[in-house]
Amino acid sequence: MDLDAIFVGGGVIGLSGAWRAARRGLSVAVVDPAPGHGASWVAAGMLAPVTEAHFGEERLVSLLVAGADRWASFAAELEETTGLDIGYQRCGTAVVALDTSDRAVIDDLLELQWSFHLDSVRLSGSQCRDLVPALAPGVRGGAHVPGDHQVDNRRLIAALLRACALSGVDLVASEVVEVTTRVDRSATGVRLIDRSVIEASTIVLCAGSETGLLGGVPPDVLPPVRPVKGVVLRLRGSASVPLVTRTVRGLVHGRSCYLVPRADGSLVLGATSEERGFDRTVQAGAVHALLDDARALIPGIDELELVECMAGLRPGSPDNGPFVGWTEVPGLAAATGHFRNGILLAPLTADALVAMVVGNPVPDPLSGFGLGRVIRGGSGHAASTSARPISTRTPER
Ligand code: GLY
Repeated sequence: MDLDAIFVGGGVIGLSGAWRAARRGLSVAVVDPAPGHGASWVAAGMLAPVTEAHFGEERLVSLLVAGADRWASFAAELEETTGLDIGYQRCGTAVVALDTSDRAVIDDLLELQWSFHLDSVRLSGSQCRDLVPALAPGVRGGAHVPGDHQVDNRRLIAALLRACALSGVDLVASEVVEVTTRVDRSATGVRLIDRSVIEASTIVLCAGSETGLLGGVPPDVLPPVRPVKGVVLRLRGSASVPLVTRTVRGLVHGRSCYLVPRADGSLVLGATSEERGFDRTVQAGAVHALLDDARALIPGIDELELVECMAGLRPGSPDNGPFVGWTEVPGLAAATGHFRNGILLAPLTADALVAMVVGNPVPDPLSGFGLGRVIRGGSGHAASTSARPISTRTPER
């Protein structure tokens, strides 16, 4: 019997969509060789509609705010369903500047945030240190953003996997080679690397930066996503004497970095933003730059143990907004291009995907983020459009 939906890609978007769909009573499979171990694993888990607001992106900012509003109930429902703590912390974010130019950039961003009616408060250097005592004495000032929170992305993945299993999602540990279609070009299912086929009424492509590489359909029907590499470090600290207790985003001589504290005292330190294609190597220079900038803001990180350096590939899109909607192939949908906001937008995207699978329109505010908004053949297309297996494997170090 055909399934209602197959999710191609088991990152936070695919797992969230599959869980919500199965909970709605739909029959669902997720295909991924290593679910949850792509960009969603490397991520820091910031839920940051305000500190991810950029000039010229007002429509996207409204979406990010709606995404953040959806998080508390999503987290509560996931924790209740699974009995797992996902580390959703309403901790707020401190934004800090190391020098006067950095301070000026943050002041400009504050003006932008206020013009969007976002909640942020300008702080002097000493007010920053009151908020985050571990900051270096030289920090010039910054802002407090009370509504930018975080979730422990790895706990989130574990909970989503359990929620999927509990609700009957079929987790297929394999790679998709191509979409299968009828003579009328509508999608019927997916062919796996072992040549077996799984059929469903709806196929949802949610393989992050690799979504544009799928075979079986013309390349120009696929969303034009590209990989944007982010190197992220993890540092082990003390749970009883944490170095910081809220997210710190800093500008250090024009370079940005962030430090996200976890309940166990560890810190997630990120991130580079590099256009290098499908390259997951961690270069020494990236690690050096991140550590150098972070210790300029918070000297105490020198005492922490460096336990992990990884690179993830964000799914970038031409306008930094996600693609959530139908492709031109009947029965074939996509949910990708979430770029820096995949974790934040996962609950909202999951709701939209369920709506689509049951035959309803994509709800607001995602209705304006369909695939039709992009001019075909633009620079946002993935570097290669040749057919190849989709994999969201953990980068190996
Ligand atoms: N959302 C943070 C990042 O993409 O680095």
